Amino acid sequence: MKVCVVGAGYVGLVTGAGLAALGHDVICVDTDPSKVEGIKNRKAPFFEPGLDSLLEQTVASGKLDASIDLGSSFAGADVSIIAVGTPSNEIGIDLTYVREAATAIGRLLPAQSKFHVVVVKSTVVPTTTDTIVRQELELASGLIASRDFGLAANPEFLREGCAVEDFTNPDRIVIGALDDRSRQILAAMYFKCECPIVHTTPRNAEMVKYAANAVLATLISFSNEIAGLCETVPGLDENIVMSGVHLDRRWWVEAADGTRIHPAILTYLRAGVGFGGSCFPKDIRAICSFAAERGVPLRMLSSVLSVNEERARRIVDLLGKELGDLKGKRVAVFGLAFKPNTDDVRESPGVEIGKQLLIAGASVVTHDPMVSHQAAVRSLGGSVDYESDAQAAATGADAVVIATAWDQYRRLDWVAIAVKLKQAVVLDGRQVVSSEQLPRKFKLLRVGRGEYGGLACPEAPKTL
Ligand code: UGA
Repeated sequence: MKVCVVGAGYVGLVTGAGLAALGHDVICVDTDPSKVEGIKNRKAPFFEPGLDSLLEQTVASGKLDASIDLGSSFAGADVSIIAVGTPSNEIGIDLTYVREAATAIGRLLPAQSKFHVVVVKSTVVPTTTDTIVRQELELASGLIASRDFGLAANPEFLREGCAVEDFTNPDRIVIGALDDRSRQILAAMYFKCECPIVHTTPRNAEMVKYAANAVLATLISFSNEIAGLCETVPGLDENIVMSGVHLDRRWWVEAADGTRIHPAILTYLRAGVGFGGSCFPKDIRAICSFAAERGVPLRMLSSVLSVNEERARRIVDLLGKELGDLKGKRVAVFGLAFKPNTDDVRESPGVEIGKQLLIAGASVVTHDPMVSHQAAVRSLGGSVDYESDAQAAATGADAVVIATAWDQYRRLDWVAIAVKLKQAVVLDGRQVVSSEQLPRKFKLLRVGRGEYGGLACPEAPKTL
């Protein structure tokens, strides 16, 4: 099958390379010539584990190519996939790029000799595919959807940092086709994927994506809200509380050997510094404003957002309780990426904590194993120091705040760090270190833990 992917960003490129690995002839089209050149040279324009080797394999075999020219790339394609950005705007999401892609594809549709299916992969609110995208396509082509060409919504479920694995081994594929022919063509495109396929309408497919992200974000804010309460009651510890919650048999299944298997979703039921990235915050805002327009305010999801937005300030308050006035204090923020295994700092909790520290008058030094100095300056401004070495970042600082659960932070030489710090205070916002790992000199502050006036709380048991 010949597939043309419009937009070689994160979703487009992973999807294109994944489809090429399934044996399809894929061409990724992007307006950015340097991106196209990079793909042709088998180098992803962003960091994603496994993607470079997938490019190596698929470009070398001739299954994947890239181009800036939609016209020549589109000719003879069975399917085109719209995978362009849908950034936030004041009223929800900005559909400019989706509309432009639909119009460009629409203009090319009349010259297509066979039935062609247009697929919306970008995350869009329900009704977008079968109203806005459909209208743009029909207007530009003079053709009729379902009769002359196919149309479908087919959301992506790719987590940054494991997107290649998520594409190769998906939990599910959701095909929201407008017509039966499109449904069959997309089922054939994913023929080799061994996972449940949900066949539904474009609107339901679009909504599955939002509901899936919304429930995960809700679990995180729920845990953070419980943590906030625990922090105010001496002796309460969210870690112990949630470990007890996780033991409910509805959260685990029993393996053949009698051991309990916990689903990965349980990691979302743990307190931390909050969620960030290009998906959760934007998607929750978008679905809330979509619902509000319909007169159905999503009260729970609005609270999920506001609990999350308060998170950075609460972390800084927690630190202030230990250090006193933060004015003039130096704080090392460990972790600027919104999660491990990515260099993405969009809406990152580490960046928000850095901003709150600056507002409180602290001086900030940052460290991240993958985020560059330039990206740190772009997100926090030039007044923030940056060190590529964690010990150097800690030197002379009053405290360290761990904002990203990088594995490296678990393995750091904390004895050496303790020596460099002015005051040996670590606020672990991601539950990555335990007091056993830290030298006695350290004061370990954890989210969700109510301190007994100066006495350390008993250590929480290891995770389940
Ligand atoms: C998320 C979803 O998990 C994917 O299923 C979805 O396809 C994707 O959005 C998307 O819409 O494209 P992603 O944003 O890459 O994927 O990352 P997650 O691993 O879900 O983490 C999101 C944020 O929540 C991160 O800031 C992470 O640190 C935070 N998080 C995650 C927590 O604070 N606690 C947790 O227990 C788990």
